[in-house]
Amino acid sequence: MKIVKTVEEVRAQVREWRAEGLSVGLVPTMGYLHEGHASLIKTSVRDNDRTVVSVFVNPMQFGPAEDLESYPRDIDRDAELVQLCGGDLIFNPEPEEMYHDGFSSFVDMTVLTQELCGLSRPVHFRGVCTVVTKLFNIVKPDKAYFGKKDAQQLAVIRHMVDDLNMDIAIVGCPIIREDDGLAKSSRNTYLNADERKAALVLSKSLALGAGLIRNGEKSCDRIIDKMKEYIDKEPLARIDYVKIVDCGTMQQIKELDRPALCAVAVFIGKTRLIDNFFTEDL
Ligand code: PAJ
Repeated sequence: MKIVKTVEEVRAQVREWRAEGLSVGLVPTMGYLHEGHASLIKTSVRDNDRTVVSVFVNPMQFGPAEDLESYPRDIDRDAELVQLCGGDLIFNPEPEEMYHDGFSSFVDMTVLTQELCGLSRPVHFRGVCTVVTKLFNIVKPDKAYFGKKDAQQLAVIRHMVDDLNMDIAIVGCPIIREDDGLAKSSRNTYLNADERKAALVLSKSLALGAGLIRNGEKSCDRIIDKMKEYIDKEPLARIDYVKIVDCGTMQQIKELDRPALCAVAVFIGKTRLIDNFFTEDL
C-alpha cells in the first residue's frame, strides 16, 4: 500500500493498472478513518481489482464558522486502516495540490441542495461537488463508494454524475453504527462523556420515527413532532433540522406516499451530528 501526495503520482499508478486491464474503485474521505469508512473500502476491495482511498480535508466544503482547523487528522492511523482493509493507494494531497493559485472553476447544483444540510451549510455542496469531480478526473475510477450516513451527499453525487455524464458507477453503502446505535463519525471525537451519551438522541429519535411508520403513521408532521419532542428533552441537544423528504428530490413531503428519507441534524454542545434512515430500508 502506497501513500502519494501529487496528482501526477496517482495518474501514473492508475495508468499502470489500466495497462494491466485492472478495474479501479475510489473511496473519497476526509480521513480520521473509522469503521464506516472501512466498510466502504472493503466493499470497493471486494468489487474492484484496485482501490484508491483519498484522504483530504477539503477546505472548500467548510463554511467560515465551521471546524476546518480542528477537524481531526492522523494519516499514519489512516494508512494502517486502509492497509488492513486491503486498499492499494492513498491519495493525500496538500490543499495547494488541489487548489492552485488562481483556482476559479466550480461544480455547483441548484436542485437537491436547497434542503436539509444545504440550508444550514450554504457553501457545503458546491465544495463537495467540486472536490469529488476533481477526484473523479484524477483517479478516473470505474466505481466510487459513498455512505448513506450522508444521504443528501449521496443523492447530490448521483445527480451530478447523471447531469454531467460522468462514466462512473456510484455505490451507496449502509450506515455503520457504534454498539449503542450512534452513527460512526470522525466528529464523534469532539464529544465529551456527557455529550457522547446525549448524542444517542439522534439514533433514538430516528428509531421512534421508524416505529411510528411501521405502525402505519403516514403524516410526516406527526412523525416529526414526536421526534422533535423527544430530542428537545435532552438539554445538551439543539435541533438543526428534523425532516422527511422525497428520496429523489430531497423536497419535504406531507404524506408518506412514496420512498422517503427521514433525516436529522442536531447540535450536541458545539458538535453538529447527522443521521437518517430511508423508509425503503425499514
Ligand atoms: P467523510 O465524512 O470522511 O466521509 C467519507 C465517506 O464515508 C462518505 O461517503 C460518508 O458517507 C462515509 N461514511 C462516514 N461515516 C459513515 C458511517 N458511519 N457509515 C457508513 N458510511 C460512512 O463525506 C466526506 O468525507 C466528504 O464530504 C467527501 C465525500 C470525502 C468530499 O470531501
